[in-house]
Amino acid sequence: MAGAIRKRMQWLALHGVIRGMSKLLARRGDPQGRLIADPAVRTDPVAFTDELRAQGPIVKCRAVYITVDHKIANDLLRSEDFHVLVMGPSLPKSLQWVIDRTKPDLLHPLQPPSMLSVEPPEHTRYRKLVSSVFTTRAVAALRDRVQGTANALLDDLADDAGTVDVVGRYCSQLPVTVIGDILGVPDDARPRILEFGELGAASLDIGLSWRHYRQVYSAVEGFNVWLSDHLHQLRRNPGDDLMSQLIQTSEESERGPLTHEELLATAGLVLAAGFETTVNLLGNGIRMLLDTPEHLETLAARPELWPTAVEEILRLDSPVQLSARMASRDTDIAGTIVRRGEGVIIYLAGANRDPKVFTDPHRFDIERENAGKHLSFSGGRHFCLGAALARAEGEVGLRTFFERFPDARLAGGGSRRDTRVLRGWSSLPITLGSARTAVGS
Ligand code: HEM
Repeated sequence: MAGAIRKRMQWLALHGVIRGMSKLLARRGDPQGRLIADPAVRTDPVAFTDELRAQGPIVKCRAVYITVDHKIANDLLRSEDFHVLVMGPSLPKSLQWVIDRTKPDLLHPLQPPSMLSVEPPEHTRYRKLVSSVFTTRAVAALRDRVQGTANALLDDLADDAGTVDVVGRYCSQLPVTVIGDILGVPDDARPRILEFGELGAASLDIGLSWRHYRQVYSAVEGFNVWLSDHLHQLRRNPGDDLMSQLIQTSEESERGPLTHEELLATAGLVLAAGFETTVNLLGNGIRMLLDTPEHLETLAARPELWPTAVEEILRLDSPVQLSARMASRDTDIAGTIVRRGEGVIIYLAGANRDPKVFTDPHRFDIERENAGKHLSFSGGRHFCLGAALARAEGEVGLRTFFERFPDARLAGGGSRRDTRVLRGWSSLPITLGSARTAVGS
């Protein structure tokens, strides 16, 4: 099949048909249709999840269920009766037929062998491998590196004070520099990685337009080519970085070395997950704190509250809004029987505002005792492998920014990223005001 037709068929099967159906369903008020096609849901997810909550703990949609209930979400993520939902098998047979014949030869975070899309025993094998390199000790040692990187980036900003886009100049640079250093990505490759990330972030969404799909596809393709080449180079010339260690450990693995494809998927996920989400935590946090100067005053006087403030930011504006699981057998959930093969959308951001768990759930409370009970890092087998690093980047990154620029002010509304699963700012103009001296200088 000629390349262009094949790509068009692929889009139709994976996104186009769903997009068309979702628009129809959204007009009839179906929550799943609205989630995919209603622009209001992207603009105001809180209103949407409140509506869902009013409809019950688990809501039936045309093709799947949705839950915003904290207990159900938490139980599902840990359940042996549910497994990760791989893009494709839940679709009608005719669409699956087209997908099988046009499937791009590309690695995708929601397709095996990505860790996010497999279950034991493969999942255990990949996860053990990454955990053996990404140990608690290795992550604790990274805190100084995060601080050093934040200081250097803010020095640059201080040099040209005035109005800056804090997402482009800081929130995206901090995580990409940190994860890039960890994984041995050369400095000059960072701008390309960021570009792949910016364009490819919507690869987690479904129902993309043809234009958007082509953009995402070429970003994912570019990332695949770059990473494959990078891994080959590290294999020939290993460095003192975690990616080189990962390659070596995978070759020495008891159950045989990972294939190039498995390694590519594993390393690619760690790299992409390492900055695609943390950029949103930083942007969302800066915005929320600038909107609540009283919290900034409290944090300046009581910096020990920063870890809780970061948990509240994660809870109230979750960088990953949702995940999904599929039933491996008929299961009773709060009186609703979810049949084998049916999917449930677990709306993490909605569960984070469940009034049964969080008192006055919409309030931003930097002293909330159970703020850390949010599900923004998911739970169970697929609990975020980078949570400790993300928390360190959130605490150090936000605290250092506001200590250096205590007079920072919003200089316009900014714009949200055009994504649904991931939520963050694509630009946030800020007038920095005068800079204070760096921590430790
Ligand atoms: C604020 C930042 C972050 C957030 C909100 C976040 C969120 C998540 C969520 C929700 C999942 C699980 C999805 C599911 O259950 O379906 C996940 C998985 C994962 N995350 Fe993160 N993440 C963040 C930062 C990071 C960082 C910095 C890294 C790497 C250094 C990372 C690496 C991973 C990996 C490898 C997985 C797959 C784990 C598995 O499937 O077993 N994440 N993350």
